[in-house]
Amino acid sequence: MLKNTVLLCMVLVESHGVQHYGTEYWNGKWFPHSPNGVDQNPSISSGRNHSHDQSHGVIMGKEDINCDDAKSNLAIDWFMNKENFTCFHNEKLYMPQSIIHPIHTIQHIPSSYRATHKCMNESIEYSEIIPTYGTHRPLWAVYGEYIFLPKQRWIHNLEHGAVVLLYHPCANKNQVQLLKKIVKSCLYKHVITPYNELTPVRPFALVTWGHRLEMSKVSTEVVIGFIKKYALKGPENTTKDGQYSLMLQHRSKVVSDLDDMNLCPGYSTIKM
Ligand SMILES: *[C@@H]1O[C@H](CO)[C@@H](O)[C@H](O)[C@H]1NC(C)=O
Ligand SMILES: *[C@@H]1O[C@H](CO)[C@@H](O)[C@H](O)[C@H]1NC(C)=O
Ligand SMILES: *[C@@H]1O[C@H](CO)[C@@H](O)[C@H](O)[C@H]1NC(C)=O
Ligand SMILES: *[C@@H]1O[C@H](CO)[C@@H](O)[C@H](O)[C@H]1NC(C)=O
Repeated sequence: MLKNTVLLCMVLVESHGVQHYGTEYWNGKWFPHSPNGVDQNPSISSGRNHSHDQSHGVIMGKEDINCDDAKSNLAIDWFMNKENFTCFHNEKLYMPQSIIHPIHTIQHIPSSYRATHKCMNESIEYSEIIPTYGTHRPLWAVYGEYIFLPKQRWIHNLEHGAVVLLYHPCANKNQVQLLKKIVKSCLYKHVITPYNELTPVRPFALVTWGHRLEMSKVSTEVVIGFIKKYALKGPENTTKDGQYSLMLQHRSKVVSDLDDMNLCPGYSTIKM
């Protein structure tokens, strides 16, 4: 009898279509479709004209004094406060720990999803601490390393296929240097900024469109594996540089070529 019950349970679970995905099991609804499924959502055309972009509302990448010129009203996204790039906590709390595993979060973004562009007269809020997609500013960030760059800008770079490196201002300096060095030598299309909303447990994050990797300790293998798999996959994959450069410290340098055809070329001997 017991054997039958167990069998029945297994059949029921089976018929609900449990999806095996990485190490996670999920038997609820997928949004918009399971990772191996076909996206049935209607596709929206990306036709655009001079003043208007059908897919985003406001056209992107064009300075417009009445909307976004990457110079006016920037305080709506960031008060230019030093606290956003300064460590005020006990740095010991942020020490890297090998036993704390990295967390890779995948957000299944429908292929028909088009992020909205909002002008600088409207604020943009995010429900997540480390968003991987969402409404953003029409002008994106010039590629490179920043003293501070607000998320309303770097989310736009994600859409173009960039890798964004976030580190807590209190994170271990050697680890920060190591992570910056890896990212800078992997691809041109990167953005680096401190981010004080990361936790002491995992003060590092790599973000691409729909993916984020939060880490306590920098593992070269894990970082390169993530970049090789998820860089250059944004829905509007383009190498065109951004327009916003407030607090830009160093521009990105070309690694293989402007298209990043060869990701992380210096690390080819590392086994994944
Ligand atoms: C261009 O966008 C404007 C603003 O939405 C719209 O009124 C106009 O019809 C569009 N023109 C074309 C040729 O699609
Ligand atoms: C903000 O500015 C844009 C462009 O000038 C305009 O279309 C939009 O309606 C404005 N939004 C608000 C809330 O005023
Ligand atoms: C700046 O830091 C403050 C205090 O931690 C935080 O509330 C705010 O959201 C940060 N601003 C940005 C743009 O990250
Ligand atoms: C994105 O564009 C780059 C060239 O700029 C190309 O090498 C890469 O394969 C593209 N990725 C996708 C997913 O189309």
